[in-house]
Amino acid sequence: MTDISAAPATGQVAAEARRRRTFAVISHPDAGKSTLTEALALHARAITEAGAVHGKAGRRATVSDWMEMEKARGISITSTALQFPYRDAVINLLDTPGHADFSEDTYRVLTAVDCAVMLVDAAKGLEPQTLKLFQVCRHRGIPIITVINKWDRPGRHALELMDEINERIGLRTTPLTWPVGIAGDFQGVLDRRTGNFIRFTRTAGGATIAPEEHIAAADAHDAAGVDWDTAVEESELLSADGADFDREEFLSGASSPVLFTSAALNFGVNQLLDVLVGLAPAPDGGVDVDGIRRAVDAPFSAFVFKVQAGMDSAHRDRIAYARVYSGTFERGEVLTHARTGKPFVTKYAQSVFGQQRGTLDTAWPGDVIGLANAAVLRPGDTLYRDVPVEFPPIPSFSPEHFAVARGTDPSKHKQFRRGIEQLEQEGVVQVLRSERRGEQAPVLAAVGPMQFEVASHRMAAELSAPISLEPLPYQVARVVDPADADFVGRQVSAEVLTRTDGVKLALFSTPWRLQGFQRDNPDVKLSALVAAEG
Ligand code: G4P
Repeated sequence: MTDISAAPATGQVAAEARRRRTFAVISHPDAGKSTLTEALALHARAITEAGAVHGKAGRRATVSDWMEMEKARGISITSTALQFPYRDAVINLLDTPGHADFSEDTYRVLTAVDCAVMLVDAAKGLEPQTLKLFQVCRHRGIPIITVINKWDRPGRHALELMDEINERIGLRTTPLTWPVGIAGDFQGVLDRRTGNFIRFTRTAGGATIAPEEHIAAADAHDAAGVDWDTAVEESELLSADGADFDREEFLSGASSPVLFTSAALNFGVNQLLDVLVGLAPAPDGGVDVDGIRRAVDAPFSAFVFKVQAGMDSAHRDRIAYARVYSGTFERGEVLTHARTGKPFVTKYAQSVFGQQRGTLDTAWPGDVIGLANAAVLRPGDTLYRDVPVEFPPIPSFSPEHFAVARGTDPSKHKQFRRGIEQLEQEGVVQVLRSERRGEQAPVLAAVGPMQFEVASHRMAAELSAPISLEPLPYQVARVVDPADADFVGRQVSAEVLTRTDGVKLALFSTPWRLQGFQRDNPDVKLSALVAAEG
């Protein structure tokens, strides 16, 4: 007989899942992602002063930067998962690397979120990296909240920005707030759902929460003059155009609620948190490899979306990040690792907040667990308890940069082999081989050249096997059928190599060379690595 009292508290799992909001911010570098992340944490009172998470120049310095390289370049490569309570909700903000060279990491993070915030610089509008990541969200059906940031600085007209988003990416914008004051003169916002004026007040250096006053529509003209009248007029224009919020359309990815912020001044950040809590979807049980949607209160399952090593010199270890899809996680429980079928012990579960780490004892659907020293875990792996499940693997972006790696110290060939294997398993680079080049000269493939710098740095500093990298003159990769591999490999300016998973990749010197080959050989089927890349 089944012991019902021993069964997981179904009601509690569902209730905890409903409270959670798991999302990431997608943006072009410099749109203000780090600033907004801090502002959100500040508003949720997870930190007391901006600067605590990312340590931007001029603010209180704490470091999430884990390598000298990051410090030298002033970028943050490490993805961390921030969790903080806000009102009755629990927010899981999955950070993504800012630099375009690490878009593959961002892609992986997007497999673990229920919603994305598309952050747009008011002066620049849609930029290439935003567009690329937007396509990934669309492909995965992730609902998007649009945030127009830096409204405190001169920028474009708000209506013009709406038109750009509608026209260029076919995402129908439905603003929830509308700015009072043009870009550069940000006084507050018209809350389009209540009709009230929310007036913001600056604080010194934007380091603390900006006070806001809610002023009834009837009194707003006295408070903001013609700027209020203009905002009302424009809002009415939007309504006449049908640009009012519709939750179903938002959840299906057809339309996007829009908010206006100044992350640096902490303006409009409360409104974003409220939209996340009030309108963004709660976690569900995920869709398994057979396309079946699972219940959130099914036995425990989680999906590894990222593996990160050597995060800082004080913790030279390797953390696998897994997103919980169903059930409850209790630290110490023994799970099953779906790929190998072997037991997996979860004694070393952690939560990671910027640089601070804590032991994580319990987690619910939507939460991210950091599993330390989990050498066996790779991005794309599933962990489960009781009922076997496997989630779909993470597709990889097409690499655009290729380099032959060679160990510079011949006595370290074992470390070399192990190091390359580890970098590949973590997804730092893809590794390609061919008989002609041999085991000692694998080809590293990357989306951006900075991935090579990370690989090189890690091989020397952490894996004790320094390498030299010889760039190869290829720019595009396509999957090729094994039957055609020899033929393609004999072409001028092309080469075929095999990835560790057995997939054969044909590399071409230029996109034009690839086009020419396809034109001359229409029977040879070459396919892109990720459908979303188009
Ligand atoms: P990212 O993570 O998306 O790359 O952007 P980040 O937050 O680092 O912001 C890029 C720059 O834009 C920073 O300036 C930041 O202060 C500024 N910024 C972000 N949000 C706003 C905003 O709402 N208004 C204004 N005016 N500026 C904003 P920086 O000069 O590179 O660094 P800092 O010394 O100011 O920190």
